[in-house]
Amino acid sequence: MSDVYLNGQFMPLEQATVPVLDRGFIFGDGVYEVIPVYNRSPLALDRHLRRLEYSLDGIRMAYPMSRDAWTSLIHELIAREPSADQSLYLHVTRGVAPREHAFPKDVSPTVFAMSKPLTPPPPSWIKDGVSAITHADFRWLRCDLKTTSLLANVLLRQLAVDAGATECLLIRDGFLTEGAASNALIVLDGQLLAPPRNHLLLPGITYELVLETAARHGLPHKERPVTEAELRRAQEVMMTSSTREIVPITRLDGVPVGNGRPGPVTMRLLDLYQEYKRP
Ligand code: PDD
Repeated sequence: MSDVYLNGQFMPLEQATVPVLDRGFIFGDGVYEVIPVYNRSPLALDRHLRRLEYSLDGIRMAYPMSRDAWTSLIHELIAREPSADQSLYLHVTRGVAPREHAFPKDVSPTVFAMSKPLTPPPPSWIKDGVSAITHADFRWLRCDLKTTSLLANVLLRQLAVDAGATECLLIRDGFLTEGAASNALIVLDGQLLAPPRNHLLLPGITYELVLETAARHGLPHKERPVTEAELRRAQEVMMTSSTREIVPITRLDGVPVGNGRPGPVTMRLLDLYQEYKRP
């Protein structure tokens, strides 16, 4: 693996260590971003940096660096990684301090970043789709922040893995929110439906790009609440994320979605996304 970045320096991964009193380790007190890189170019970098700032604002942390400084760090990491397609990770915690819940005074944030080869989803995921389970969304009420406190997401994703599925779709009060580590959209009676961006789900960059693509190409779409009943009678279900792009979900809780095959809207969006990501 190429060198990683920690607090101003590049170093081999093995040498990148943080003190045990780092609030990221103790409390999960931090935020992160995952940025896909295609042909050495970060996709939608501005949006990712804007979301990072939104997450930092949400946890009341000052920005540890300017956008220009993030941008040069990101380009340096990209240049150091041999693969042209990468998955770039940024991570900021509130820093190292004696264990006390309330914010410490005069503490420097911990800034960590790394890039690794981007592994595209296996071809079978696109050809046949994947299966997902559903579960009650037992996360907190600030899912719009991309925080490193991911225990609920970890437990929910593991439920999917335990069931032999790829993703766990989350239901809160009868409505679809998102996946454990992805957004979820459905196609119902010819219309692409996206659960609304609010505090109950992460405003995914891929989700945004998919909706904008649908708008540009005249595909019927709407951002509006999606009930569990609508999810279960959808003709198509898809999950989106920066690392997995757009993946058709063809089985939900063991029941085929639509005809059980990846649907035309999902495949069209996937094609358009391939064009978009490599202009
Ligand atoms: N996760 N919702 C959740 C809970 C996520 O963790 C993710 C992505 C998304 C999709 O967002 P985007 O399209 O911006 O990647 C939605 C990343 C990839 C991760 O945690 O590794």
